[in-house]
Amino acid sequence: MATYSQILGTGSYLPVKIVTNYDLEKMLDTSHDWIVERTGIRQRHIAAEHETALMMAECATHQALTAADITPSHIDMIIVATTTPEKLYPSTACLLQQRLGVAGCPAFDLNSTACAGFIYAFSIADQYIRSGTVKTVLVIGSEVMSRVVDWQDRATCVLFGDGAGAVILGAQNKPGVLSTHLHADGTYGDVLAVPIGVGKPVAQYTYMTMKGNQLFKIAVNILGQLFDETLTVNGIHKSEVDWLVPHQANMRIIHGMAKKLAMPLDRVAITLDEQGNTSAASIPLALDKAVRDGRIQRGQLLLLEGFGGGLTWGSALVRY
Ligand SMILES: CC(C)(COP(=O)(O)OP(=O)(O)OC[C@H]1O[C@@H](n2cnc3c(N)ncnc32)[C@H](O)[C@@H]1OP(=O)(O)O)[C@@H](O)C(=O)NCCC(=O)NCCS
Repeated sequence: MATYSQILGTGSYLPVKIVTNYDLEKMLDTSHDWIVERTGIRQRHIAAEHETALMMAECATHQALTAADITPSHIDMIIVATTTPEKLYPSTACLLQQRLGVAGCPAFDLNSTACAGFIYAFSIADQYIRSGTVKTVLVIGSEVMSRVVDWQDRATCVLFGDGAGAVILGAQNKPGVLSTHLHADGTYGDVLAVPIGVGKPVAQYTYMTMKGNQLFKIAVNILGQLFDETLTVNGIHKSEVDWLVPHQANMRIIHGMAKKLAMPLDRVAITLDEQGNTSAASIPLALDKAVRDGRIQRGQLLLLEGFGGGLTWGSALVRY
């Protein structure tokens, strides 16, 4: 009998401190109205010193374990998608494994898949479960984006926020995850980058650089193709999708994608207005919110999509 992966539980963590657009008006040459009109963002959570990628991942994990009704001892693999890890190594996943007390299982970070990191991690977890290698995988997106944006650069810093989302995928004999689709195109590497690297003078390269306008157009194009690919591979009509769970980068992109699927906005899991773009954490955060407040129900069909630096992008079609 074929093995599939199923979402067993989800969890999340958001930093306590909220920074509104009005707060940003006091620091930058920007306005609440500009940010809302161009992006849809009204506020974002910003991490305090102790709210690191590891700390937030751990909190989200405990919620997900409770939701899945399992203990850490059931975890066979840990993948943390983060562009803002605790250290180059040990990985955030290894540090988390140590805190969970489950030494022995594979644990690793996906660092450079940026905002598509969660989809990449989710896809890897699904492949390992389908192959029968492991039964239960902890997949996390955890980000402190506030530490890689330049707070003097109004074109980028207003867009991002911090947080973590966790999903536990487990093996079962019916789908579950129907398919995942991953892509990358290094030709667009300079469109979105945090160019810091080993051996580079830090001050010059620490912060994110982004060609927002170009990225916007590329995103709309690649996501449209990605939806077509995902639906075609599964022989599914867009009307069968119950929920779009998108990466939360820009409300105009999200609206465009909902329109492509002919989907009303109340069938789109949106957290962008309250959380901003939390990079690899944005999809599991949006998923967890809609699961916890009862909007997403068991048996419904979910389309998850993400895109980010690299460029990287990907999707997952999931029977929840
Ligand atoms: C970043 C983004 C919101 C900018 O919106 P836009 O409509 O493309 O705006 P532009 O970059 O063309 O800038 C328009 C003007 O607003 C200004 N501006 C930029 N940021 C501003 C801010 N926070 N407040 C006020 N004005 C701002 C620009 O300087 C520019 O001024 P100018 O016309 O005098 O030169 C939009 O391009 C976007 O969301 N792109 C995708 C980004 C993304 O998805 N990133 C994450 C990927 S994971």
